[in-house]
Amino acid sequence: MNWNDEQRVSRRDLFRALGGAAAGLAFGGGARALAQTLGDATKMDRAPYLQIDLAAGPGVAQVKPGAQTNVLRFTGSVLRGRLDALAPSPGSYLGPTIRLRSGEHVSVFFNNNLTEESIVHWHGLYVPHYADGHPMDAINPGSLYAYHYRVANRAGTYWYHPHPHMLTANQVYQGLAGGLIVSDPEEQALDLPDGDLDQLLVLQDRTFDSNNQFVYLPNPMRGTLGREILVNGQAEYELPVRTRAYRLRFLNGSNARVYKLAWGDGTPMTVIGTDGGLLEFPVEKPYVVLAPGERVEVWMDFRNRSVGERLTLKSLAMQGLMFGVGGGNDPLPNGAPFDVMRFYVVEQDKEYRTLPKRLTTIRWNREEDAVNRDKPRYLTARWDNTLGWLLNDEPFDMYGTKPNERVRAHTLEVWEFENIAQTIVMAHPIHMHGPQFQILRRTVSPGYTEGWDSVRYGYTDEGWKDTFLLMPGEKVRLLVAFGQYTGMFLYHCHNLEHEDMGMMRNYLVM
Ligand code: C2O
Ligand code: CU
Repeated sequence: MNWNDEQRVSRRDLFRALGGAAAGLAFGGGARALAQTLGDATKMDRAPYLQIDLAAGPGVAQVKPGAQTNVLRFTGSVLRGRLDALAPSPGSYLGPTIRLRSGEHVSVFFNNNLTEESIVHWHGLYVPHYADGHPMDAINPGSLYAYHYRVANRAGTYWYHPHPHMLTANQVYQGLAGGLIVSDPEEQALDLPDGDLDQLLVLQDRTFDSNNQFVYLPNPMRGTLGREILVNGQAEYELPVRTRAYRLRFLNGSNARVYKLAWGDGTPMTVIGTDGGLLEFPVEKPYVVLAPGERVEVWMDFRNRSVGERLTLKSLAMQGLMFGVGGGNDPLPNGAPFDVMRFYVVEQDKEYRTLPKRLTTIRWNREEDAVNRDKPRYLTARWDNTLGWLLNDEPFDMYGTKPNERVRAHTLEVWEFENIAQTIVMAHPIHMHGPQFQILRRTVSPGYTEGWDSVRYGYTDEGWKDTFLLMPGEKVRLLVAFGQYTGMFLYHCHNLEHEDMGMMRNYLVM
């Protein structure tokens, strides 16, 4: 079945369907697909149900002092259900942060007000194929796409961004991205820092012209790196804090830049969560490596700091991320050190929270239970002088899969990725759509240890993941439990220029 055409509904069909839904009427032919999704919704009885209108279109934002920057941005409104499901991102081009609850049913009506096609992907959420934002579902300017899904994920930090083939990198660079935070009762019972003590920090890099406009210079080899670091859409970002414990949710929304986050004064990073939510126990690391697409949650207590103090969050030097890919004259190459942002202690506060010793219980899957435990699927990432960036030895094929890209629903599998960095040495952040997975182990080929050693202590493999850094010469073994949703899902490099160039493949769940 091809959802492509069925899901393309006009605005008029939408309003007809919405009217119908409200009145509990049957739907006519033109809105059949939508009726189907809303039909599910009407069967949900008293299950919480949220309807969100989300649009992508042009706008302006004050990114730096002086002239405003022309951007593309998501805007949204809640049509039905909790009004706090959308939190605006003040002073930022980022879209509203979508706040969902596990188990909730959500409809999102995506309006494409751009001048080119687009589609939205909910990065990290486990949703049916037709709600996943596959590029085959991209819609034309002026069209609307209706998503409907149940929030199957546990509490955690996810995000959303466009996913049209060959256009993703530029659309994200121009500003189209937003956070998506899921909460659940287990997490709520922990009493972690909330309100302004819970901060989403989106890391991106941009190059500006002399009039403060974004300059997008696509570099298909190394990906696009900006000269300036933005946090939540702002240059020179400084967050005023109280002498309290904070939950800091870092999201790398950059096209190609990898961050090696560390506190400027040498305080270890206390990691409490990863892509798929909380860890079982807090873990201390000297630094945290965050590749494009990845998230990490960090606990930071400013209790013993004094008012007036400023603490810098840095990105430390890394080796071996890229070599011989024309990055030589980059003002800020991938792997170069820089300051990310500052925390400015502005207020003394007596109250404090202690870090829970145990955050959650995770029921891990076991490698020995995988159907292919003796013969893992083996997938390479590499450059080919004729075909360009490849995954599984192939460029992207919108509707196709190879035999080794077909899996059964409800099965546990081991997948192994290897970065064959023979002609071109380049790190790739690999993202799988569909379920969150476990990272079983990592190994590196001789000759690549120097670069690997400069990042490996910052990997956050202790929790559920949907994106991981695959360093040159590195092999990463994953354990993935495929669930109930059948159909085509993507796995790809989250260096967005690589993705646009075709470093992306489908896998088919049957
Ligand atoms: Cu965040 Cu397929 O992407
Ligand atoms: Cu890549």
